[in-house]
Amino acid sequence: NELRGRGVWRYRDLLPEPNSIVSIGEGATPLIRLRSHGNAYIKFEGTNPTGSFKDRGMTIGVSLASSIGVKGVIVASTGNTAASAAAYSARAGLNCIVVLPKGGVAKGKLGQAILHGASIVDIPGTFDNALEYVLDTVLINGSADHINYYPLNSINPWRLEGQKTIAYEVFEEVGVPDYVFVPVGNGGNIYAIWKGFRELMEHGMIDHVPKMIGVQASGAAPMVRYWNGAGEAKIENPRTIASAIRIGKPVNWFRAYRAVKYSGGAFIEVSDDEIIRAQAMLGKEGIGVEPASAASLAGYLKALGEGLIGPSDKAVLIATGHALKDPDALLMGNANMISISSINELRNLVMGNAIA
Ligand code: F0G
Repeated sequence: NELRGRGVWRYRDLLPEPNSIVSIGEGATPLIRLRSHGNAYIKFEGTNPTGSFKDRGMTIGVSLASSIGVKGVIVASTGNTAASAAAYSARAGLNCIVVLPKGGVAKGKLGQAILHGASIVDIPGTFDNALEYVLDTVLINGSADHINYYPLNSINPWRLEGQKTIAYEVFEEVGVPDYVFVPVGNGGNIYAIWKGFRELMEHGMIDHVPKMIGVQASGAAPMVRYWNGAGEAKIENPRTIASAIRIGKPVNWFRAYRAVKYSGGAFIEVSDDEIIRAQAMLGKEGIGVEPASAASLAGYLKALGEGLIGPSDKAVLIATGHALKDPDALLMGNANMISISSINELRNLVMGNAIA
């Protein structure tokens, strides 16, 4: 396979070894220095094959599912996992069932699940309910000998193995940053990235890990609640414009907690307004991300503003998914839209007579 040596699979010595690899060219994403904040770098995961970091884990998960010979894979999702599972299953010739919160998935992601031929199951309620449906189904039917549909949510440890390669790529470009900001939903990704850095330390390549900062939207911030000692890492009715991280009961809450705690980091929350402003700010730098992904920049700006970090600290902000995932969010932006009906009007614009 020509893709074996690039991106995620460049690190195959540190990854599980499936019989055959299902790859569409995941990983090797750009690290882009911000013009507005010279010590902040955006790790732009939107350039993955289906437009999110999920592809890093899905190439491993679907390769293994394919190697053990199941009929298909099943995931609950706020959208990106569904899009990724659908594409990699299609590539592998496996069936794919995606279980989605009705009305809670951005259009781009739903479109991808349709395009790649997944069976789409809508359920009432939130992502948390969708995950319950899936776990109850596979735990009852899924004793090892008659499992037909392999569950590929982020409780699946193999997916996290793929996602840890974000740490390896960051390390190769800028060494160990002082901070890594990660939007947190289920808490799998922040743990995976921390694990990647910890392994580099175990291999003697680095002597410390970055402080991991988990960023949540304030209407969906169970980890912040737990971190602040205000109760369990659970809330009912999570609400935020960032549908990807609209999650009230993160299954990987303890992994995420450990990553943040043992790296010396923190969980912080940002408002939907701050998220939208950060998304627009990245847009102005030519970087198109979906709302959930902008949470990492929103969190960085907040941490700077509150003096939690300093302007000379080196920070990597994980931009988890592409702007095109959520076209409705883009269309709510401040458009420079001008309707004209004659060539002369356009000439006037171009001559600089009427453009703001
Ligand atoms: N950013 C985006 C764009 C996501 O899609 C997700 C998770 C996260 C951040 C949070 O990552 O769950 O590992 O803490 N999306 C999942 C999905 C839930 O179904 O696509 P996490």
